[in-house]
Amino acid sequence: MSETVQAEKATLPSEEAVLYPPPAHVLERARVKSYEELYKESIENPEAYWEAEARELEWFKPWERVLDWQAPFARWFVGAECNITHNCLDRHVKTWRKNKLGLIWESESGETRTYSYFSMHREVCRFANVLKSLGVHKGDRVTIYMPRIPEQVFAILACARIGAIHSVVFGGFSVEALFDRIQDAESRVLITADGGFMNGKMVPLKSMVDQVAGRSPCLESVLVVRRTGEPVAMEAGRDYWYHDLAELPISQRPCPAESLDSEHPLFILYTSGTTGRPKGIVHVHGGYMVQVYTTLKNVFDLDDEDRYWCTADAGWVTGHSYIVYGPLLMGATMFMYEGAPTFPYPDRWWRLVARYGITVLYSTPTAIRGLMRFGEAWPDRHDLSSLRLLGSVGEPINPEAWRWYHRVIGKERCPIMDTWWQTETGGFMISPTPCVPLKPGTATRPLFGIEVDVVDDRGQSVEPGQDGLLVIKKPWPGMLRTLYKNPELYKEVYWSRFEGRYYSAGDSARKDKDGYIWVVGRVDDVIKVSGYRLGTAEVESALVSHPAVAEAACIGKPHPVKGNSIKAFVVFVAGFTPDDNTSEELREHVGKELGKIARPDEIDFVSGLPKTRSGKIMRRLLKAQELGLPIGDTSTLED
Ligand code: WTA
Repeated sequence: MSETVQAEKATLPSEEAVLYPPPAHVLERARVKSYEELYKESIENPEAYWEAEARELEWFKPWERVLDWQAPFARWFVGAECNITHNCLDRHVKTWRKNKLGLIWESESGETRTYSYFSMHREVCRFANVLKSLGVHKGDRVTIYMPRIPEQVFAILACARIGAIHSVVFGGFSVEALFDRIQDAESRVLITADGGFMNGKMVPLKSMVDQVAGRSPCLESVLVVRRTGEPVAMEAGRDYWYHDLAELPISQRPCPAESLDSEHPLFILYTSGTTGRPKGIVHVHGGYMVQVYTTLKNVFDLDDEDRYWCTADAGWVTGHSYIVYGPLLMGATMFMYEGAPTFPYPDRWWRLVARYGITVLYSTPTAIRGLMRFGEAWPDRHDLSSLRLLGSVGEPINPEAWRWYHRVIGKERCPIMDTWWQTETGGFMISPTPCVPLKPGTATRPLFGIEVDVVDDRGQSVEPGQDGLLVIKKPWPGMLRTLYKNPELYKEVYWSRFEGRYYSAGDSARKDKDGYIWVVGRVDDVIKVSGYRLGTAEVESALVSHPAVAEAACIGKPHPVKGNSIKAFVVFVAGFTPDDNTSEELREHVGKELGKIARPDEIDFVSGLPKTRSGKIMRRLLKAQELGLPIGDTSTLED
């Protein structure tokens, strides 16, 4: 086993962890009453399982084959035509759900907006018409850089409706990150807003866009949604107010969902990997739609009386799958909140749960740990009895946070669905459904139709209790199809480790004697900071872009709230003498280049970095030293 795996081992909870059986009120209404049977059946014939699920949705043209697997390239629902937005909107508008609330939104300052399925359909059609009027065609990439407002959802759906491929860039990312993503996707159109609000402050999105628009040769038009009302510069011939175009008569015309091949790309989402720049993960309409629909249905058991809230930002995959697409595919009522959990007080979320009668709350370990710090009095001031199920995603949830979430928020009546998945997987892969007994700290068992294992370096299953690498053994409908413009890298990153046999997730894990999977953490150079996925390479290149820095290396360090924090080691250029402000200046620089979330917590000034003879930085040595772990094999060390 690689040393990185061992180094991460540190805090695995005991396998003897108590089992939490499903409470009767949850089990009673659970769609799936017995995990074992359905799982066994689904694995014996995964194609039949997924096909039956696909039949619950509407297709413009049926498939000829469920799966075409030319390892490692998959095509699902081959020959079929569909459009995910037809299933998100049109399918419901034909029924009584036309009048059902689809989206309830509250801003940080307390404004509210609500949309029925009928009005969401209208808004999305109008948005799609506006995109068409800007010359957006099927297959074009559109970059979306927006605050958390309903128009963010409509913009995404509008792209999908006309077969354009959206590339959403998280609104917390900075100018350089946005610039890289626009270039790589070669977007001609960018959708943004004049600004957004977070933590009581205004985020000047449009002026950030102005810093990249001028030097992005591919970019022709910038569509600006009015949100803050603050004055912004509008460049004639390039920048358009959304509301101006939306008012035009041509924007009011019907806009039927484009009939698309089920393998037509739906979106590109850039995410961090081991080396170099973020990679463009490509997902498609058909298979992704089926997986997101099925997993949300089985894991969160959504029904018409539910009010579901996923606290993520639509700029990350969690938001794509389980704010935008999943709930709408289910015809559910979703709630969306624009701001920070602690604004103006640390009870904002609990206030929202009570005010809107949220039944299913899907959040992150970091948020839970962050809110735990403020004590139980804050949630205890509110009536949280509407809650039925809780969810967690993004990183392993430590048992202490799990228990707090379960006891203080869920009042011991709400099972926690700890969902393990990745940007690459499209939807949940390992997660309990409400009928599965829980152990704090594990995402439990693989979902139906999904075959996973924990293996050693040669691809052999390891014994229960042993650490190994998490792999996925069979293709699944929501899997990424490729890396944008880079199928070779796709093969190498995910499929080369076990010669094309298994998908390698990049996580280390352990199975216990009950078959529960305990994910330990990343084995590559990805750091999960507050659940956000960052690559050491990105942070290092941001540091090196500072004129004083010659070389940099970053590692993740366990952090009580954020899960991991970033520690950087920098070597200065000859002749540069750091002073008391240098650390802060470098932090700010990374914030500006990449985004605040990427700022290192600690920066050490060093005279050199440990490298292999071929010149690769040995981050694991820095990490071992920092955490007081065994240094391990140093035979490749240069010096
Ligand atoms: C980690 C987020 C443990 C894991 C949806 C994975 C988790 C990476 C869990 C993907 C979980 C996500 N338990 N670890 N429930 N969920 N992870 O692409 O390391 O941002 O490989 O997708 O997050 O991160 P990504």
